[in-house]
Amino acid sequence: MTRKHHKVLAPRGTVPRAAPEEGPAGLLVLHAQELVTLAGMPRPRRGKEMRDLHAIPDGALYAVDGMIREVGESRALAAKYGDAAEVLDATGKTVVPGFVDAHTHLAFAGSREHELEWKAEGMSYQEIAARGGGILHTVRETRAAAEEALYLSAHARLDRMLAHGTTTVEAKTGYGLTAADEMKLLRVLDRLQESHPATVVPTFLGAHAVPPEFEGRADAYVDLLVREVLPNAAAKTAARFCDVFVEAGYFTGDQARVLLSEAERLGMSGKIHADEFTDTEGAALAAEVGATSADHLVHTSNEGIRKMAERGTIAVFLPASSLASRIPFAKARHFVEMGVPVALGTDFNPNCWTESMALVVSLAAHQLGLTPAEALTAATVNAAHAVGLGREVGTLEVGKRADLLVLDVPDHRHLAYRIGGGAVETVVKDGRVVLHRAP
Ligand code: NIG
Ligand code: FE
Repeated sequence: MTRKHHKVLAPRGTVPRAAPEEGPAGLLVLHAQELVTLAGMPRPRRGKEMRDLHAIPDGALYAVDGMIREVGESRALAAKYGDAAEVLDATGKTVVPGFVDAHTHLAFAGSREHELEWKAEGMSYQEIAARGGGILHTVRETRAAAEEALYLSAHARLDRMLAHGTTTVEAKTGYGLTAADEMKLLRVLDRLQESHPATVVPTFLGAHAVPPEFEGRADAYVDLLVREVLPNAAAKTAARFCDVFVEAGYFTGDQARVLLSEAERLGMSGKIHADEFTDTEGAALAAEVGATSADHLVHTSNEGIRKMAERGTIAVFLPASSLASRIPFAKARHFVEMGVPVALGTDFNPNCWTESMALVVSLAAHQLGLTPAEALTAATVNAAHAVGLGREVGTLEVGKRADLLVLDVPDHRHLAYRIGGGAVETVVKDGRVVLHRAP
């Protein structure tokens, strides 16, 4: 659908790499009404820091070889780099870092639009799961799917995410739930990481649900993950995060502890799907085991929030998921005030099909209590830290990847204000214009 409204430029091979004396090089962005750099300390932002956008009026940016070379005022940069190979005039527009989607379930087969009819009848997420729908429905389809088909469908989803302005995407497994099928999904994610222009961060989520073969024997399944799948994932794939769904009917805190400590021993960082439907003390657990993030956090207690703040655990909020599952929105404002660094993600999955971080930013401002500036910080620099790439992406600073968006709005607040996107006009990934929507 996006492609009908957007002109997607054909890949142009390589970014011009000529030295200055050989002719013009690089990309120059000029005259942004507001160039949001989010420059500052190399760590997640918390509390009042989340409102510090470090925006430059009449801002400019010069990138070469895919990296940001200089950021500053337009007059100075125009004089220095006026002969750049490509110049983007951002007069009257807002420039922000590319979105980082800190939580997706990118690779799976099939879809679950039929569940909307069940939801209309009043069925809850858990009732749908108990009927054999939900995660296990998608597991059946994913096991039956060929690796190539999984690769192609996930590739198309990444195309659409990029067209919506997401330049970095965390992507979980979790619909295979056998040793072979989880490795199949990890190989798909590795291939996407190598072949797609977006930056992909693979996460192993073998503990997404107890598979039917192990019904009533979750400990035995966790044992299989620890003995066989996790070591294979760590040794043979690019997965550097391990996630666990801690919830009644899924996995317990103790099982998560076992998995995450083994993951840590193998060099992988932890994440937890925490307190989504009930308070399972998942947030406190994430803090205790030193996980990078706890995600969802709809029912987290004050004690859990306090522990996350103390440990610096990043809270990843997923408001589109609350919308899709018809559960309350998380109290992100409260987390910010308690000093927890807050990030955002789509939770793209067959229950919550959105490829738009712009939608998530607007939901965060309208329903989670974040200000537009906090929501933007959460969707960029803090999300970059939540996926372990805080040094590479998430801000517009010298030495980072030139991932940026030109928004056809006069200031950043409009991004959150306009529900569901529409503001993204140009997407630049690694210094290359990958999408330009004609005005
Ligand atoms: O993050 N909560 C668990 N997992 C996903 C939903 C996956 C699905 O329903 O297929 C989530 O919301
Ligand atoms: Fe999720």
